[in-house]
Amino acid sequence: MRTKIVAGNWKMNKTASEAAALIDGIKKELAGFTQVEAVVCPPFTDLKEAAAACAGSNVALGAQNVHWEASGAFTGEISAAMLKDLGVKYVIVGHSERRQYFGETDETVNKRTKAALAAGLIPLVCVGETLEERDGGKMESVVVRQTKAGLDGLGADLSKVVVAYEPVWAIGTGRTASPAQAQEVHALIRRTLAEIGGKAVADTIRIQYGGSMKPDNAKELMSQPDIDGGLIGGAALKADSFAAIIKAGA
Ligand code: PGA
Repeated sequence: MRTKIVAGNWKMNKTASEAAALIDGIKKELAGFTQVEAVVCPPFTDLKEAAAACAGSNVALGAQNVHWEASGAFTGEISAAMLKDLGVKYVIVGHSERRQYFGETDETVNKRTKAALAAGLIPLVCVGETLEERDGGKMESVVVRQTKAGLDGLGADLSKVVVAYEPVWAIGTGRTASPAQAQEVHALIRRTLAEIGGKAVADTIRIQYGGSMKPDNAKELMSQPDIDGGLIGGAALKADSFAAIIKAGA
């Protein structure tokens, strides 16, 4: 039985002073609720305040990116050890916005994933096709390629990752994949994970859906056999909608 995991990707939203208030609101909404793992992923600048707000609660802390080197001359980058030191547990890797706007490749996704795992962080590794790729009949090849390349060479650590399927055409567009459409790709990802690490391991790995997940569609999406949670953008910026999505996973 896989415990569902719902993570809020705040993207470039909320200052450090706003972060604590949002997390406090989420904690209030989720008081006593432990059936679904809840994670918030604020910007780097919020992590210290966010860590204090999350401490001792049922809300875990994640970051939105991590560099693969341990330290050195990499202006503007953040290492896994820096995140770990602040109490971060999860880190988003390979989000489509990183791939689209910041030159993220399958190779750098793999390097970041390995660095996160080596430091004891759990990577939320994002995969997903663009609308052009889907319309061109390439959804399957893109998702399989991103999954295999992003998770290449992890060995026994494969079992620790979380995968997020985020069809690019559904992110921030209000256009959600239908539960059947999402389930089809989640099953494909699980078959690919089985090819990489065997069926027993693949059956334990959580695969989140991301892309306009909202309180009113979360339950149906998370009822699908291979959808084990969500990676939430817009709806994670308000305590009530984020908590409603998390509760929909129970
Ligand atoms: P959205 O974003 O929920 O606003 O579509 C999801 C994501 O990019 O993780």
